[in-house]
Amino acid sequence: MTAHGSVVKSSAANLPHSIVCVVGARPNFMKMAPIMAALSKIGSKLTVHLVHTGQHYDAAMNHQYFEALGIPQPDVNLEVGSGSHAIQTAEVMRRFEPVLDERLPSAVLVVGDVNSTLACALVAKKKGIPVIHVEAGLRSFDRAMPEEINRVLTDQMSDLLFTTERSGRENLLREGIADTRIQFVGNVMIDTLRHNLPNAIPVTQILKNAGNEAFLNNQLGYAVLTLHRPSNVDDADTLRTLLETILIISAKLPVIFTLHPRTRSMIEKFGLSAMLETPNLLLLPPQGYLEMLGLMQGARLVLTDSGGIQEETTALGVPCITLRNNTERPITVDEGTNTVAGQDPARILAAFKEVMRGEGKAGRVPEYWDGQASTRIAAAISVWLESGQVV
Ligand code: UD1
Repeated sequence: MTAHGSVVKSSAANLPHSIVCVVGARPNFMKMAPIMAALSKIGSKLTVHLVHTGQHYDAAMNHQYFEALGIPQPDVNLEVGSGSHAIQTAEVMRRFEPVLDERLPSAVLVVGDVNSTLACALVAKKKGIPVIHVEAGLRSFDRAMPEEINRVLTDQMSDLLFTTERSGRENLLREGIADTRIQFVGNVMIDTLRHNLPNAIPVTQILKNAGNEAFLNNQLGYAVLTLHRPSNVDDADTLRTLLETILIISAKLPVIFTLHPRTRSMIEKFGLSAMLETPNLLLLPPQGYLEMLGLMQGARLVLTDSGGIQEETTALGVPCITLRNNTERPITVDEGTNTVAGQDPARILAAFKEVMRGEGKAGRVPEYWDGQASTRIAAAISVWLESGQVV
């Protein structure tokens, strides 16, 4: 055990404690917002530090989320930026270690499945600092997906694992994780959604801001599209086929396409920009959280390869077609509005036609997606820290 580990051990039963919370990329921000708020209510016994790894750095992917979600400014920004998976992960690790040496936290809390999640969990665990993972146990069973590797390895290193749906526990038990470490608390993303829904920005306002108020004059409604998975956007043929399918859809239902930086650069690299110049397809830059909420809430349909959007559309009751061959969030299919259609145009168009016939899934809101997940997490962490069993 490191010197650091022994510090944690000896102080474990005697509050005060401190937790270092980590965010790195866009999907982390909406998960961390309610957790930070709930942890702050524990009181002066617990100090919370926020570390931003800087994995996402563009203002459009970043600052506006902190502001809209009311997340406190990070105490530390590691400013790692982009790179290969190895470089990005290694750089986060290298820069995160001194932060732990300086702050000596009782635990490190990570969310989700991005490279920053894995990197910070690994640094903490190797230093003998307990790791808390929020959104544990999700599995796509597709090890070609970088996030799946991040999920499996982070969970293996975690001391306290909070799950969003009941399937998470089964997956973790199968991988040998002790039942006593797992707690089903619900979905913190839905805490954020419920909290912010009254302030969602309506689509009319978004179109006005984009200088394109006439886009929805047809009364048909619209679909929202997001794409960024390497498996969809990094290969020219796959991306072209997907975009051709979207053009077929847009001829029947206008499509608002919010462009992730990775996707924008791939479209340009593969020379596909011209095919997107059609009146029924509106390209927008990455949207803020309240804008995205408004876009989804008003949509007839959402097409996506994001994980979080599958959950948000289920909570909103809006049909979702997932442009991936699998999902690590099966409850969105079993109980929610999600249809996994993969990359095959025939399957995507069949699912689209169902929605247009009014036969899209209505779904219901899953258990514990009730806006209280972060409160359950904070309560569990408080008990866990006070129990003195943190190492
Ligand atoms: C990452 C996460 C993914 C998450 C997604 C949400 C991993 C393995 N992947 O993927 O799980 O769903 O974020 O967005 O961690 N870029 C910018 N500006 C930015 C950020 C990225 O221009 O602020 C560009 C860079 O060219 C970069 C590319 O996007 O190389 C990819 O960024 P990166 O963070 O490596 O992965 P994402 O595809 O965003």
